[in-house]
Amino acid sequence: MTQLTGKTALITGGARGIGAAFAKAYIDAGARVAIADIDIARARETAAEIGATAIELDVTEQASIDRAVAETIQTLGHIDILISNAAIFTAAPIIEIERADYARTFDINVAGTLFTLQAVARHMIDRGQGGKIINMASQAGRRGEPLVAVYCATKAAIISLTQSAGLNLIQHGINVNAISPGVVDGEHWDGVDALFARFENKPRGQKKAEVAAAVPHGRMGRAEDLTGVAVFLASDAADYIVAQTYNVDGGQWMS
Ligand SMILES: NC(=O)c1ccc[n+]([C@@H]2O[C@H](COP(=O)([O-])OP(=O)(O)OC[C@H]3O[C@@H](n4cnc5c(N)ncnc54)[C@H](O)[C@@H]3O)[C@@H](O)[C@H]2O)c1
Repeated sequence: MTQLTGKTALITGGARGIGAAFAKAYIDAGARVAIADIDIARARETAAEIGATAIELDVTEQASIDRAVAETIQTLGHIDILISNAAIFTAAPIIEIERADYARTFDINVAGTLFTLQAVARHMIDRGQGGKIINMASQAGRRGEPLVAVYCATKAAIISLTQSAGLNLIQHGINVNAISPGVVDGEHWDGVDALFARFENKPRGQKKAEVAAAVPHGRMGRAEDLTGVAVFLASDAADYIVAQTYNVDGGQWMS
């Protein structure tokens, strides 16, 4: 695949999981890639393995976003593609949700996505050559879940932000779209499984088995299942796609 030859990409939360798989797929498709993550040690390891550049980023700090974007432009020359992928998961029954956890989850998942998108969009507008921005939503943003109110609400906000930013930025040739995964196995879901084990009093691994059995495709997703859409949405073939959220979830949500 060479759909991204000559392009440059910044991927937040790219140290591991889905972001790392996106980074590898983009490099395989011909792009040069910076992975920006709060876990800089892991980002450096991943970057060394796949041939990316590692950049330190905490999406909750505006100065850190500005620094990471400037460093990416300095290293890669400019930014054609942003994937706002950094996020955290949280779960609790409604009556146990803590304000601090709510604030931190919204700060990373929603404000982090918006203000990284804003910083990169300003650069893309100044440069005058458009760009592609991909946000990471979730099937959790399509409907609520009894124990996952806060995370679900952050991902619903991502779908909405993608629509508004997509409509506002297309005048500059910047396509903003989102990917909505279902359940993707990896360290993120190890953490989700542990939280459900606690709140639903289940043995570790049971929640994963249950969600896998509920996927129409018949298994949990793998990070690599998402890379085809991520490459496509970043390519020139997606120039006419604006403000959409693509489900890549083995058939779990239809819209
Ligand atoms: N795994 C799934 O089942 C699933 C399903 C739907 C949506 N998603 C979404 O896909 C994206 C990637 O998920 P994943 O499974 O790879 O998650 P992950 O937890 O494995 O990776 C998230 C990355 O974000 C980084 N990060 C966390 N806080 C940060 C901060 N403040 N600043 C910068 N980086 C930060 C982490 O260090 C980590 O490398 C997320 O947006 C997630 O919500 C995942």
